[in-house]
Amino acid sequence: MIGRLNHVAIAVRDIAAASQLYRGTLGATVSDPEALPEHGVTVVFITLPNTKIELLEPLGADSPIAKFLEKNPDGGMHHLCYEVDDIHAARDRLVKSGARVLGSGEPKIGAHGKPVLFLHPKDFNGTLIELEQA
Ligand code: CO
Repeated sequence: MIGRLNHVAIAVRDIAAASQLYRGTLGATVSDPEALPEHGVTVVFITLPNTKIELLEPLGADSPIAKFLEKNPDGGMHHLCYEVDDIHAARDRLVKSGARVLGSGEPKIGAHGKPVLFLHPKDFNGTLIELEQA
């Protein structure tokens, strides 16, 4: 059911410093930061030949990554995003097998303008999983 690894997301405290680390030290192509107030984050995307890295900085008081950064003050890997061909079919199959979809259970429009869902990390080996419509 799952397809390509769309991106690996890393939560950071300072997205400008993290962007410079990837751009300068690691020599990667880094996008300009984009504020996504409806998701409570500012994001940049780093394009690699085979996938992307998403850097996430908290935006606003009730950012969903604020707690994560409290527990991981140096930042850390936050989620993996897999592509699926049909996000509603994927959701239905996962719910049927007992997996928990976060939030309302309905896909939201994510950072790439495509529908996304998040799956509970306790159901997937302690890893938060994002599914994105391919
Ligand atoms: Co993501």
